[in-house]
Amino acid sequence: MPERNFSYHRFIYTLLGVGFLVFSGFVYTQAVPENNHVISPKAVAGKMLWQQHNCSSCHQLYGLGGYLGPDLTNTLSTKGKGKNYAAAIMKNGTQVMPNFHLNDTEIEALLAFLEQADKSGNNRVHSYEIGLDGTITSEGETRK
Ligand code: HEC
Repeated sequence: MPERNFSYHRFIYTLLGVGFLVFSGFVYTQAVPENNHVISPKAVAGKMLWQQHNCSSCHQLYGLGGYLGPDLTNTLSTKGKGKNYAAAIMKNGTQVMPNFHLNDTEIEALLAFLEQADKSGNNRVHSYEIGLDGTITSEGETRK
């Protein structure tokens, strides 16, 4: 009886060992997926300016930030707004928003940063429905 038990264990361990090797081989030979989250140097410069001037004290991105100004996540793709509109406001400020005296290169960088934000998310965070299991469903999507 003990003899049999021993070979049974050996069988299980061999199976686990082989399974581990096959799985590891599989994982390490998979092509690495393209990283779509890498942002351009220009957008990185824009992010630095965003932080330096503390834009988020008044503005939100993805619904997070200060509430004096509007959420800027989707400003560039919003009908009637877009790049020229955003650039004009950044260049001159408004009665409420200060003029940061940004030069054209800085404005370009901030636009690249905002474009990145626009591509990667949306600001309609309040229209998400939180399910009982903690997952969220955005409008237009159906719960699986
Ligand atoms: C003191 C608060 C404040 C700060 C700081 C601020 N903004 Fe604003 N911003 C506003 C307000 C308020 C508006 C809306 C226009 C208005 O009411 O004058 C606005 C509007 C904008 C708009 C147009 C958005 C839209 O959808 O109409 C852009 C783009 C913008 N700001 C970019 C920036 C950037 C970039 C920075 C940082 C360099 C910044 N803002 C810092 C207050 C601020």
